[in-house]
Amino acid sequence: MSVLTRRHLLRRAALSASAATASRVGAGAATTAAVAASAALDGCETDSEPNPGPEPERRLGLRFPDGFGWGAATSAYQIEGAAKDDGRGESVWDTFSHTPGRTRGGDTGDVAADHYHRYEADLDLMRELGLRTYRFSISWSRIQADGTGSPNQRGLDFYRRLVDGLLARDIAPMATLFHWDLPQSLQEGGGWESRDVAYRFADYADHVFRALGDNVASWLTINEPKTVVQNGYLHGHHAPGHRDPDAAYLVAHHLQLAHGLAVAALRATGGSGRIGPALNLHPCYPAVDGAEAEAATRLYDGYENRLYLDSIFKGSYPTDVLDDLGPRSRMVRAIRDGDLTIISAPVDLLAVQYYTPIYVTPSGGTEQKWPTSEANWQQIYPDGMYDILNRVHREYGPLPLTITENGLPTPDTLDGDTVDDPGRITFLRDHMAAAHRAIRDGVPLESYHVWSLMDNFEWAEGYDQRWGLIYVDYPTQRRILKRSAHWYRRVIADNGV
Ligand code: FCB
Repeated sequence: MSVLTRRHLLRRAALSASAATASRVGAGAATTAAVAASAALDGCETDSEPNPGPEPERRLGLRFPDGFGWGAATSAYQIEGAAKDDGRGESVWDTFSHTPGRTRGGDTGDVAADHYHRYEADLDLMRELGLRTYRFSISWSRIQADGTGSPNQRGLDFYRRLVDGLLARDIAPMATLFHWDLPQSLQEGGGWESRDVAYRFADYADHVFRALGDNVASWLTINEPKTVVQNGYLHGHHAPGHRDPDAAYLVAHHLQLAHGLAVAALRATGGSGRIGPALNLHPCYPAVDGAEAEAATRLYDGYENRLYLDSIFKGSYPTDVLDDLGPRSRMVRAIRDGDLTIISAPVDLLAVQYYTPIYVTPSGGTEQKWPTSEANWQQIYPDGMYDILNRVHREYGPLPLTITENGLPTPDTLDGDTVDDPGRITFLRDHMAAAHRAIRDGVPLESYHVWSLMDNFEWAEGYDQRWGLIYVDYPTQRRILKRSAHWYRRVIADNGV
């Protein structure tokens, strides 16, 4: 691994450390590829009379294509709680959050937003917002307590009830198979450093597809493999808390392999559901003019984006990244004949998660150019969403795109029955406008999910950061629609901002 790479890994570690201390269709709605395709062509007009209104609710006069999938996202460990209910096994996040010093204030997901017990009421809130699509994740250790063997029916039943509840409310379920909560027993057998875990993942996915496949039209395989690699294995702020660059990229390969094996598992069931990866993509820009910054940005982009995109969509890892890692790296040595064929099995959609751009200096460090949110790793730059959507469409498309995460934490407080979060409205409105511009350019973006439906356990940040449209008063578990949630309901009803 080059000096340059080491330097930006260290820089990233520092950035993330400061982030940790500073706060971090089928059935139902019409989010089909066909809709997206026609949307890209002709569905995207501008209202003739934009409504001036109070800032930030001021209307921009942008109408989205008919059938656009307005949604919101969550993940299992962040909201469900019920850590020991109905045969659920431990995951790496149980272990990590219960290890002193790992999360802010020692917070854990033991109770979280207690969604496991309150999902019916939460479904009603989703209907009240008018959501057309809901992205959630399935907890592997609810389905297989120790990550292998026959499935736990009670775990499957929970997700079946959730999916049925969505369909009954005309909300399209979009299910993620893995949002970082690896069963702890598998971690003890080597976790994602072990190639075998990729095969265990495909078995687990097969159980889920067979149980829910008739009713879930859109599947996502692995949420943000890059975050597992970087946060879990490079700088250790996430479970399993390792700091081992050589292991990190081995893990990257096994996560990609797991993705491909899950795609094959879905195809083998003969089901009609769509499947794709969920990648957090960071547009990388040179911080200054000049060839050195350009070159450093290119390599940075390799680690941030192309490592994951090229392997899935082009069937090869980027050679600049492989060269930088070196032939003796554990990752390069672990790649077997045929692996890239598995990884690049055709997918049906690409889920993009956009939070921030990255500005790269000539020495491979990073710079801040735009204001941050309470999450100080996040720079607020809506045009970055426009850029990344256009880029993936141009370089890896055409295929249906969905935004599966976009949002920010704001300093929300409960005042009587209201929570005033104008900053979230401005952020979402500006990013939706960027998405609209991409659609107008012909990018087949079919849906957009706010991160997050409700406040939740933000990993190492615990409950400190509030990312939700819905405020969760943790002591009482009362839910309160924030000002942004009321605004979003109107966006959905008007199909535009
Ligand atoms: C993403 C994660 C999600 C949440 C948001 C803020 O990287 O996928 O679980 O933590 O960031």
